[in-house]
Amino acid sequence: MRITGLRLHNFRCYSQVMLTPPEGVTVLVGENGAGKTNLLEAVHLCCLGRSHRTSFDKEMIAQGQETTAVQLTVERNDGKHEVGVRLFENARKKKVIYVNGKTAHKAGELMGHATCVIFSPEDLSLVKEGPQVRRRFLDMLLSQQQRSYFYALQTYMSVLKQRNALLKSGDMRQMPAWDEQLALAAAPVVRLRREACISLNEWARNHYFYIGGKEEEVFALKYQSALSQADDPAEKMLQGLHAARDEDIRRQYTTFGPHRDDIDLSLCGMPMKAFASQGQMRTAALSMKLAAFDLLEKSQGEAPLLLLDDVLSELDPERRRRLISRIAHAQALLTCTDPGDFIGAKPACVLHVEKGKITG
Ligand SMILES: Nc1ncnc2c1ncn2[C@@H]1O[C@H](COP(=O)(O)OP(=O)(O)OP(=O)(O)O)[C@@H](O)[C@H]1O
Ligand SMILES: [Mg+2]
Repeated sequence: MRITGLRLHNFRCYSQVMLTPPEGVTVLVGENGAGKTNLLEAVHLCCLGRSHRTSFDKEMIAQGQETTAVQLTVERNDGKHEVGVRLFENARKKKVIYVNGKTAHKAGELMGHATCVIFSPEDLSLVKEGPQVRRRFLDMLLSQQQRSYFYALQTYMSVLKQRNALLKSGDMRQMPAWDEQLALAAAPVVRLRREACISLNEWARNHYFYIGGKEEEVFALKYQSALSQADDPAEKMLQGLHAARDEDIRRQYTTFGPHRDDIDLSLCGMPMKAFASQGQMRTAALSMKLAAFDLLEKSQGEAPLLLLDDVLSELDPERRRRLISRIAHAQALLTCTDPGDFIGAKPACVLHVEKGKITG
């Protein structure tokens, strides 16, 4: 897919921007704080309805303004798709999502029209930090891959919230009904995560070999869930909820279920987090993101947009070359502070970013 138009209005440090990047790689060069990441964030917002770096939507509204709007048009195999998001400072006004010129009733309607994979230095947290980061990685990826995953997850989270409220209230009469609902809601989430991790593992391992350049370093990614082996995840979930009931009542929240899932990462059978070097962790995170790119490309029949934030400076020249060769067929927006980072590859376009202004 290809961006044919990106518009920002009062988005972070930008008052007004219109951009039509060409096919291939567009390099955004600028000093620290110039607004490079902001631009990638705007694309991410259009693809997923949220920022990749904050869960506070309001932060994206330019200081002193009441509202911000972003709009992205992409050309795909099946034609033009246009998506947009408007955010408001006023807490009473909800986020508005537009798809092909119409206001969407549900946030999920945005998913899958324009898709992206973002690479950033913070990806290291995929390896270093807790399960939540890896669940978010899966959730963002699978929501883009199929809208039904986003809805299934939404349903699960909302039933979970209600079950937790019941646990807090101390009135257990309705608990069997909520257990049943939560078990039914868990099943599609688990099935899709499990299936995706099998493919991601295969692709990530190969990317690791290729980027890392060492045959003996075997990277593995494994779905870790109390329900990962279950033929019937709903049945297993129900059993798990029953077994955990006393513990749940004591703690006043649900201790069992896919909201506790993780992805187990290892290098040559050893847990990544405890044993791998900084460079190995970085290669692992990169391989996971490349595998995410593969998943979207294979399921959609065309490459998603690539957002590469400051990743080249972290890699040695050989790894840099290999990364670029893997993604050369996609349209990419790539940021750097030093255009020298891009040596060896041919960008289609170089743009300079300075204090919220973009020039050719
Ligand atoms: N809501 C906002 N309103 C106005 N300006 C903002 C807002 N949020 C962030 N900024 C400004 O945007 C700039 C940061 O932009 P961004 O993170 O895109 O920089 P960058 O070019 O990626 O820098 P680096 O190379 O350090 O990563 C800062 O100057 C910051 O003050
Ligand atoms: Mg930045």
